[in-house]
Amino acid sequence: MQETLTPVLTSDFEKDVRKGLTDFPKHLSSKYFYDKKGDKLFQDIMAMPEYYLTDCEFNILEQHKEAICSLFSKGNKTFNLIELGAGDGKKTKILLRHLSENNINFNYLPIDISQNALDQLADSIQEELPKVSTKIMQGTYFETLEAISKLNTDPKVILFLGSNIGNLLHDQAIDFLNDIQDLMTPDDLLFMGFDQKKNPQTILDAYNDAQGITEAFNKNLLVRMNDELDADFQVDNFLHWETYDPETGTAKSFLVSKKEQTVHIDKIDLEVHFNTWETIHTEISQKYDDQIVAWLCENAGLEILTEFSDAESLYKNYVFRKG
Ligand code: AVI
Repeated sequence: MQETLTPVLTSDFEKDVRKGLTDFPKHLSSKYFYDKKGDKLFQDIMAMPEYYLTDCEFNILEQHKEAICSLFSKGNKTFNLIELGAGDGKKTKILLRHLSENNINFNYLPIDISQNALDQLADSIQEELPKVSTKIMQGTYFETLEAISKLNTDPKVILFLGSNIGNLLHDQAIDFLNDIQDLMTPDDLLFMGFDQKKNPQTILDAYNDAQGITEAFNKNLLVRMNDELDADFQVDNFLHWETYDPETGTAKSFLVSKKEQTVHIDKIDLEVHFNTWETIHTEISQKYDDQIVAWLCENAGLEILTEFSDAESLYKNYVFRKG
């Protein structure tokens, strides 16, 4: 009798865990922080006083909403305000409210991978800002952005807040910006948050809070592997460790093995050995200055139109157009 072999289907998470934990040095992608527990922990991080990024961007939007919205508005012409990774929309609502109160014609199109996050956002906008025309778009950023560009020729303003770009290495950031630039017309704008270089201690404190919320966020990767891949990580056997290099502006998060140990990840049939103090690199959070942003955008075919900052230049929002 002939045996039929069923193909083994593996998820990206399974493939990336295998690759990352068999590489030297070990690494895992920060994109896997964000399951239901991770989303909640990130919300808690954004509410911590040490995580200055959220307050800074909130204040910039609040203080400069008039100037920002007048840059966005295209006379009487309707424009599409497209947000990549909208989350709870708390900061965006400052702009939505101002645009709506000033009777500016626009459609709000938040894009997110999570349908659940989008449904909650749509409900809250319906309740708080019923005049805002909202069309939620579930999917990956580029597939969705491409679909919007094909379907609708109204000018676009693309929002990417929270310094989310900082989770990409420079090469990846250039590719990302270039992909957006490709989908822009000369009328379109890109509005983005970039966390700035600053006192290194302020950055270390933001990513290593005393309450241990960031530690739990980082360790959620281990919890996810336990829950989803039948792994047996002992979370307490690992330390959360943060570094910041003031020369390059790169903050890095690690999980550090406190002892020699072997972990089993049954679902992918993998045994992983850790030496004492061996690391798993889990995230980069890049900090910027004007030179780095100018270099990134030049390499991605974008041009800086203007920028908005807080009084201490801790954080900046730049407005780009196609170069
Ligand atoms: C989503 N991203 C921009 C956050 C950051 O600052 O890198 C994620 C985060 N990691 C630890 N704290 C917050």
